[in-house]
Amino acid sequence: PSLDEIMNLHDMEYIAKNTLPRGAWAYYSSGADDEITLRENHYAYQRIYFRPRVLVDVSKIDTSTTLLGTKSSVPFYVSATALAKLGHPDGECSIARGAGKEGVIQMISTLASNSLDEIAASRIPGATQWFQLYVNEDRNVAFDMVKRAEQLGMKAIFVTVDAPSLGNREKDARVKFKGNSNVQQDKEVKRDQGASRALSAFIDTRLTWDDVKKIKSTTKLPVLIKGVQRLEDVEQAIDDGFDGVVLSNHGGRQLDTAPTPIELLAEVVPELKRKNKLRKDFEIFVDGGVRRGTDILKAIAIGGNDVRVGVGLGRPFLYANSAYGEDGVRKAVQILKDELEMNMRLLGVRNIDELNSTFVDTRRLLGR
Ligand code: FNR
Repeated sequence: PSLDEIMNLHDMEYIAKNTLPRGAWAYYSSGADDEITLRENHYAYQRIYFRPRVLVDVSKIDTSTTLLGTKSSVPFYVSATALAKLGHPDGECSIARGAGKEGVIQMISTLASNSLDEIAASRIPGATQWFQLYVNEDRNVAFDMVKRAEQLGMKAIFVTVDAPSLGNREKDARVKFKGNSNVQQDKEVKRDQGASRALSAFIDTRLTWDDVKKIKSTTKLPVLIKGVQRLEDVEQAIDDGFDGVVLSNHGGRQLDTAPTPIELLAEVVPELKRKNKLRKDFEIFVDGGVRRGTDILKAIAIGGNDVRVGVGLGRPFLYANSAYGEDGVRKAVQILKDELEMNMRLLGVRNIDELNSTFVDTRRLLGR
């Protein structure tokens, strides 16, 4: 189908499923164990209902915001995903161009299939990129990566901490075990296995807060912790002077039945407020299961006036890039942006700052 026929991000996923090599689809789509968290990440959004306002002049809608001090055309960003080349020969570079042209921030994975230099070179002038760090067992490798990211103009470091072991992704494992006669697929699967092996150097079971604090001390860039999954760890990040956290369960790929980020956000924000722990310069991001403009609006509303919330999407951009390259990435952004505008109008909200917790009913989400 042509891009014009793509109505929403679910369509992107459908196209990717039917066009990607089997190994790539398995790697991208899989979650851990029984994929309960993978499914719930998205379903949890369906338990939040809106409380729209009527008779507001919504002739002008502005979806732009500021994330970590950078202007963004939208309150969402492309989250870090490994191995974009499994799906498209231009890999992360076409994601960089597509996102950049739409004024969307790209977070780049340590395990990107293009080099960081190549992806930085693909950056559209004025666009913003962030770097996601997996901390190598050899700390000097990690320090060097942060330094390189800084030199290449990345604007923030996200240290991923939810992978002291690789999650059990059986769909992915099955494809690899089967082997197959299709040469192209064999190549993809081998690359994929190569990446898993490469990943093992980045899995350090001894990684602690002290290590991440040390990394923070080596850079002037904002440093955020990606993969936080409970209130106490958000508080620790605040106490240790980090610039923010990403509430994330790695898209359901790590611990199955880990909490969904949107539920966690709805729990954490009021608690942090009650304890008077929120600082203006501490931002909270969420990712996992976000597929609609309404999902994004819900997350931001929960943060409300208390904390700036940014929303990350992983798979949808991998799928869009795999199926249509740079144009697909742009289309995915445009779809979400259109959904944001339309639904802000329907909500009676003209800009991102006007969204607050009065616009959402979280009773079903929180079981109250
Ligand atoms: C990821 N994610 C991820 N996170 C990270 O910090 N470093 C990485 O290299 C990767 N790689 C990766 C590969 C693939 C195929 C997926 C699907 C995910 C997690 C990613 O940043 C994000 O947390 C999730 O993708 C969010 O969930 P959704 O949007 O995919 O549902």
